[in-house]
Amino acid sequence: MKTETAGTRRRTLPRSQIRVLLLEGVHERAAEYLSAMGYTNVRHEPDALPQVELRDALSSAHVVGIRSRTQLDAEALATARRLFAVGCFCIGTNQVDLSAAAHKGVPVFNAPHSNTRSVAELVIGLSVMLMRGIFEKSTRVHEGGWLKTAAGSHELRGRTLGIVGYGHIGSQVSVLAEAMGMHVVFHDIRPVLALGNARPQPDLASVLQIADIVTLHVPDTPETRGLIGKAELDAMRPGSHLINASRGTVVDGDALAAALVSGHVAGAAVDVFEKEPKGKDETFENPLRGIPSAILTPHVGGSTLEAQEAIAIDVATKLVSYSDSGNTTGAVNFPQLNLTAHEGCHRVLHIHRNAPGIMAHINEVLSSHGANILGQHLQTLGDIGYVVIDVDSIDAAEALPQLKGVEGTLRTRILY
Ligand code: NAI
Repeated sequence: MKTETAGTRRRTLPRSQIRVLLLEGVHERAAEYLSAMGYTNVRHEPDALPQVELRDALSSAHVVGIRSRTQLDAEALATARRLFAVGCFCIGTNQVDLSAAAHKGVPVFNAPHSNTRSVAELVIGLSVMLMRGIFEKSTRVHEGGWLKTAAGSHELRGRTLGIVGYGHIGSQVSVLAEAMGMHVVFHDIRPVLALGNARPQPDLASVLQIADIVTLHVPDTPETRGLIGKAELDAMRPGSHLINASRGTVVDGDALAAALVSGHVAGAAVDVFEKEPKGKDETFENPLRGIPSAILTPHVGGSTLEAQEAIAIDVATKLVSYSDSGNTTGAVNFPQLNLTAHEGCHRVLHIHRNAPGIMAHINEVLSSHGANILGQHLQTLGDIGYVVIDVDSIDAAEALPQLKGVEGTLRTRILY
C-alpha cells in the first residue's frame, strides 16, 4: 500500500490523494487551511451542484463540505462510496441524513458557535437603537419628517441588561454590555460562571422585574417554546425593551405585538421568527409587521463575513483532525473520541454496529497479525460503536480486508 511520511508515521492514504469536494462557495479559508495541512486535492465549487453532477462528484469524494442548500439524503449518501467525513460549513445539519451518514461510518461536523460574536455585537447595536428610538426616527426622516427630541431616549450606560440563557452568545453579550457601562443580570437553567460583575438571578421572573432590556439567548427546546408570552411581557418593567435573536418559537408574536401597541413594552428587536420565508420570493407575514417600535431583521444575527471565515476554519480543522487522527470531537451524529497518538504506533479506526462480541472479533484479527495493542478507546452512540486502536505493528494490506469482514462492520480504516 502506498504511504506518506508524516512525522514518524507513514500514512496508508496520503493526504494529497484524499479527494475533498467543497460546494456552495464555502469560504476560501477552508481550502487554504486544507491545502496548508497537505490536503491539496480540493475541488472548490462556487455553488451547489445539480442533482446528477452532485451524485457523480460524490462517487469519488472522500470528504465533502457543504452549506445549507446541498441535500445529502440517504440516496445521495449511498452513491458516495469513498466518503468518510462530511463538513457542514454552517450551523444547521438538517440537510444531511445524519442517521444514514452514521450508518455508513461517516461523521458529520458543523460549526455551531463560530458566529457567536456576530450575534453578540448585533444585540449591543440593537440595544442602542432601541434605547434611542432610532429605528422610528430614521423611518420618519426617510418620510420627510424630523422627530428631533430627547424624550424617551437613554444611554446604555447605567441601564440594566437582563440576559436569558448565558451560554456562548449570552455570555459574550454580557462582556460587551459591561464594556458599555451596563449592569448585567442573567438567568440560566444550568449553573454557569458569571463573567465580570454580571449577577445571576434565580429565575426568569427576577430578570424580567429588574431589566431595562431583556435579551433572549436560549435554544429551541420544549421548555423554551413560548417562554415569553403575555404573562412574562406583563411582568417586564413598563417602558422596557425586548430583544430576540435566539429562536422564533421562544416568543409569542401576537402577545409581543399587543405589548408594543399598548406601549407597556417600549420597543423590541426581533431577528428570528416562528415562520420565516424560505426564500426571497416568499412574503414575510408576522403580527409585528408595521409596528413602528419593532425593529425586524431577517435572521441575520450570525450573518457576517467574519463568521463565514470562522466557520470555514472551524469545520476544516475538525475535518483534518478526523482525517489525520480519527478525532470526532464536535461530530453531531457520532461517538466522540479524541486521542493522542503513541509515538511510532499504527492507528486503526473501526466503526461498527454496537453489538455484543464485536470488540472480541476485532481484537482476534489484530492478535492474529501479531499486533500488540498500545491503546484502545471505544465510544458508542445509540447503535453505532467507534473504536480507535493504536498497535505497535500491522500489515495494512492483509489486516484491512479481515477487519472489514468482522460482522457488524460499517467502515474501517488504517490511518498510518
Ligand atoms: P448555547 O447552547 O451556548 O447557550 C444556550 C444557553 O441557554 C445554555 O447555557 C442553556 O443552559 C440555556 N438555557 C436553556 N434553556 C433555558 C431556559 N429555559 N432558561 C434559561 N436558560 C436556558 O447556545 P448559543 O450558541 O449561545 O445560542 C443561543 C441561541 O441563539 C440559540 O437558540 C441559537 O439557535 C441562536 N442563534 C441565532 C443566530 C441568529 O442568526 N440570530 C445565530 C446563532 C445562534
